Amino acid sequence: MKTDGRASLFEALSIVEDSLADGYHSRRALPDFAVIIESPSTGLRMEPAPANDSLEAIAAEAARCQKCRLSAGRNRVVPGLGSTRPLVMVIGEGPGAEEDKTGIPFIGPAGQLLDKMLAAIGLSRETNCFIGNIVKCRPPMNRDPAPDEQAACMPYLERQIAILKPRAFLAVGRIPAQALLGAKTGIGRLRGERHEFHGLPLVATYHPSALLRNEELKRPAWEDLKLLKSILDELDQR
Ligand code: URA
Repeated sequence: MKTDGRASLFEALSIVEDSLADGYHSRRALPDFAVIIESPSTGLRMEPAPANDSLEAIAAEAARCQKCRLSAGRNRVVPGLGSTRPLVMVIGEGPGAEEDKTGIPFIGPAGQLLDKMLAAIGLSRETNCFIGNIVKCRPPMNRDPAPDEQAACMPYLERQIAILKPRAFLAVGRIPAQALLGAKTGIGRLRGERHEFHGLPLVATYHPSALLRNEELKRPAWEDLKLLKSILDELDQR
């Protein structure tokens, strides 16, 4: 734990106080040493962010990682990319062929559509979003990442969240929506409403590759983006 004085401890405690009254929505940045996690089963608690952790350290560890079978088939690990003080953390499923070649998330056709979707509500990876994935190595033939592969990779995502401290999450596709919400229902049931993850708002929507296959999903996806935008506007007013 960073000991940068009592001021940041009091700042954290006052945010906890607000959170107990009203849920955690504060736009005030949390002090570096803490991330607030709210879970319906355990209530609010504070978890220390490892003192010397960094996005670079996570990327370097992920590049050497052999915790699951996906490491055997990867060309490049795809640790994630974007703003280091993001308003929104966008979480996809896992790298595809283009991403595996380049190490850059969402760079293929689905990624280009994702960028347009984000731009429509004033978001971009260059300015205010960080783009990550549930698994950081490409599943063979783009199959779903298996539960043990997701579990093996989750600590990297948790560490990224602790460092980045986003204000909201956008889960794109069934796999991230189910993984982050601990749900088994399909994306059609998970989308369209505000959820909470780590005590912060989370909106789930269709994966852009599903939108490329099925035009009819574009309208509900647009509704989801408008929902996210309204949540961000609400956070802005606090
Ligand atoms: N699909 C994903 O879910 N993530 C990527 O990075 C690319 C495509």
